[in-house]
Amino acid sequence: MGIVEASEAAIEEAARLLRDGRLVAFPTETVYGLGADATNPRAVAAIFEAKGRPRFNPLIVHVASLAAAEEIAELAPLARRIGGAFWPGPLTLVLRRKPGAPICDLVTAGLDTVAIRIPDHPVARALLAATGRPLAAPSANRSGSVSATQARHVAADLGDRVALILDGGPTAHGIESTILDATGETITLLRPGAVPAEVIEAALGIPLARSPATDAARPASPGRLESHYAPKARVRLEARETRPGEALLAFGTAPVPHAGLMINLSPSGDLMEAAANLFAALRALDATGAGTIAVMPIPDTGLGEAINDRLRRAAAPRGP
Ligand code: TXA
Ligand code: MG
Repeated sequence: MGIVEASEAAIEEAARLLRDGRLVAFPTETVYGLGADATNPRAVAAIFEAKGRPRFNPLIVHVASLAAAEEIAELAPLARRIGGAFWPGPLTLVLRRKPGAPICDLVTAGLDTVAIRIPDHPVARALLAATGRPLAAPSANRSGSVSATQARHVAADLGDRVALILDGGPTAHGIESTILDATGETITLLRPGAVPAEVIEAALGIPLARSPATDAARPASPGRLESHYAPKARVRLEARETRPGEALLAFGTAPVPHAGLMINLSPSGDLMEAAANLFAALRALDATGAGTIAVMPIPDTGLGEAINDRLRRAAAPRGP
């Protein structure tokens, strides 16, 4: 069936497919999600199959409202405050799973916690409303590769493995949601993402704890494999010059001199623009067959933390 514009009729059709246990890719304000009915174990299993994803990696459950979130998870007072401030939006909370929550065990990979997000994209919201079920949705790319920020990226990665791709145009943030562990009294940053940590700290008036996973090496969040978001090309960070045969991923007003292929994530040095362009730029440079993508330094403040996290993982040594 492939890509269809996300009209009202297409969303109805997508909801019917989802209730039938099929997979539907849909836009969110961060990246495209590969959705399945979170109450249906066979549908959820099909996500792992389509992505080629290790089974131990739990999925984010997308819901339409706080009330729907509370059917699935316990929201401690602090979690409720965070949800109130940032939902709907590009933020995911890891919470304690309620006994009898209407989601299958495969979604949480057997954990007693569950990751919940209320997305803000109109197509995602309409789809959740039309389906009337919580939707498990990881990023709509093959496991370990670059996330999809456009419908055609999903088609290139997943092809027939997905019943329908709802096209809502390029995603606004271009980088995945920020993930916080909000199971206790301390809030821990598990994955830097579209909401900068500083913004959350300012809203809450308390500092976020950092998990070892945030510094890349040892995943506390099971899916935080070090090598991730990897293009086929090698990725060389902190490039202050380029070498023959390299493609350049530049940033800012003064890109390093480069004779070959170059994409500037943001010529004006705007981190929001850079995040929105990141995955499409990596895909485009990779498609040229360059052996190495050299990446200019990007400031580590605000959204730069999430951008650098993704780039470090793209540059990390690959598994066997
Ligand atoms: O922006 C996003 O978050 C996108 C859109 C589609 O919503 N989704 C996304 O999903 O990035 P995914 O599956 O690619 O990443 C989800 C991350 C994984 O690293 C996973 O390990 C972590 O969330 N996660 C899920 N459930 C968890 C849990 N109960 N405890 C700790 N980490 C969890
Ligand atoms: Mg992903």
